Amino acid sequence: LNVLLAFFSWTGNTRIVAEEIVRCLSPHHKIDVCMIEPRRRRKHLEWLLLSLTPSSKVEILPAIYDASGYDLIILGAPKWSLSCPPMNCYLSRLKGGGKKLAAIFITYGGFDEKRYLNKLVELVEFKGARVKATLLARRKEIRRGEYREWVRMFCERLECANGNTTAV
Ligand SMILES: Cc1cc2nc3c(=O)[nH]c(=O)nc-3n(C[C@H](O)[C@H](O)[C@H](O)COP(=O)(O)O)c2cc1C
Repeated sequence: LNVLLAFFSWTGNTRIVAEEIVRCLSPHHKIDVCMIEPRRRRKHLEWLLLSLTPSSKVEILPAIYDASGYDLIILGAPKWSLSCPPMNCYLSRLKGGGKKLAAIFITYGGFDEKRYLNKLVELVEFKGARVKATLLARRKEIRRGEYREWVRMFCERLECANGNTTAV
């Protein structure tokens, strides 16, 4: 598979999971990693305020927006209040994902993560991609290393989905 892995991570948790996904998939697939980075640094309070506005966006550094050359698009983000502005900006520009396999992983502190994940799944499917695997990793569980097993299962699901695209 030709894989695009695009993720945003502010305090490093989502990045840890992203790196494990790369370790898991890279022996068998070609992966391009795209780190979504805000153009400007912001303090926690500013991020918190922005994250309380649904669909708020902030400008990000150049990223891979054209997914047309990929078979699988994996997106990763932290669960931030109501929205994650750098991810919103990225998703608004992402093109060429129609009919592609997709997967989403979210890291979170401890609440409301499922609703956020579902919203992201809806958005990505609205763009025409088919979400075949999702992963929710709690910050505490990332610190303990428990996420590794889930990442392995997440990657296995994706590889199966690829083999079964007509059956699902
Ligand atoms: C602005 C902000 C808002 C957050 N809102 C939530 C939240 O609503 N629910 C939750 O479970 N965790 C929340 N968190 C915690 C993060 O989701 C969690 O620490 C995540 O793993 C951070 O990912 P990162 O280290 O990749 O940036 C929030 C963190 C920040 C900075």
